[in-house]
Amino acid sequence: MSFNTFGHMFRFTSFGESHGAAIGCVVDGCPPRIALTEADIQSHLDKRRPGQSRFTTQRQEPDTVKIMSGVFTGDDGIQVTTGTPIMLMIENVDQRSKDYSEIKDKYRPGHAGYTYDAKYGVHDYRGGGRASARETAARVAAGAVARKIVPGLIVRAALIQMGPHKIDRTRWDWNEVDKNPFFCPDAKQAKFFEEYLDGVRKSGSSVGAVIEVVAEGVPAGLGAPVYAKLDGDLAGALMGINAVKGVEIGDGFATAAMSGEENADEMRKDSKLGNAGKPVFLSNHAGGILGGISSGQPVVARFAVKPTSSILNPRKTVDRYGNDTEVSTKGRHDPCVGIRAVPIGEAMVACVLADHYLMHRGQMGEGTAWPFKPRA
Ligand SMILES: Cc1cc2nc3c(=O)[nH]c(=O)nc-3n(C[C@H](O)[C@H](O)[C@H](O)COP(=O)(O)O)c2cc1C
Repeated sequence: MSFNTFGHMFRFTSFGESHGAAIGCVVDGCPPRIALTEADIQSHLDKRRPGQSRFTTQRQEPDTVKIMSGVFTGDDGIQVTTGTPIMLMIENVDQRSKDYSEIKDKYRPGHAGYTYDAKYGVHDYRGGGRASARETAARVAAGAVARKIVPGLIVRAALIQMGPHKIDRTRWDWNEVDKNPFFCPDAKQAKFFEEYLDGVRKSGSSVGAVIEVVAEGVPAGLGAPVYAKLDGDLAGALMGINAVKGVEIGDGFATAAMSGEENADEMRKDSKLGNAGKPVFLSNHAGGILGGISSGQPVVARFAVKPTSSILNPRKTVDRYGNDTEVSTKGRHDPCVGIRAVPIGEAMVACVLADHYLMHRGQMGEGTAWPFKPRA
């Protein structure tokens, strides 16, 4: 089994590798009659695209998406999904395989070359082959479709730590995220990151990051006990992104140091017009999920991205023939892969939520919401 497919009811299968002809995915399970254009997808791909600032790889990929199937434009002129497989294709145009010829037979420490070779006996050294984060463009494209499935869903993410340097959460401003090259919600810290990351890059090294994803408009009830918990699926989807080494939901690891009073999100009845009888939570330490099921609060997830393994500074390694050697990576690499992981994290959260939304609808039917009336 090769496991290139995500999801249950909202599914996508990604294909392609870093220096192949194209990458992309086939989305299956998208409901019909959802308005969908290439522009809806392109805007998200443009956020992940390489070569947009000196802080990301200089590989120049336009990442132009083509919808190859699964849509139809009716007499009203609106292009909609048909309910059949949607194939999304992105051509690779700026491969430079010769950049990798020097390290052709060497494993890059921290990269997946050795484990892929140990498993498959094939070493696609050209840009990391299938282990390259080029694959994540397919996830972002699928995520753009997923976002359209859950009504009112807003999924946003931001970089909240680079190396040991955290943002000041009191300065959090979502409007800042698209104004700096780091997707950072703290304008002051973003300025500092410029100088900091320049230093890291010039010294031939790399650095890690932490990204926070917040999903608003998630209805209560998504997720299923016991083997399809929403938090479990989110953790799996985020951990499945290249270079991600840790995931937490809500207050995550910090909850271990909290008391029961501090951690439990207290509840009160909502007095807002139209919401009478529904609960409101006075805090959100749980990150919007209780018992594996969404509570109606924003879903909050955080993930840690390791420093880029391809660095200029030489590291000890072995070659394919079992000899000790050294490797230094001179090609085009991100000094902090966490930056471009921001739109990828958003996409994976959107895919998980769309999948659970469709599964919930499948089990419970349309228009069901707490509090239920007793059946007649
Ligand atoms: C957006 C993004 C860009 C990446 N770019 C690079 C890169 O330029 N060089 C590199 O060595 N790794 C890069 N990576 C990480 C590797 O793909 C990843 O570390 C490798 O496949 C090993 O897998 P693992 O770290 O998940 O264990 C990137 C990851 C992401 C999310």
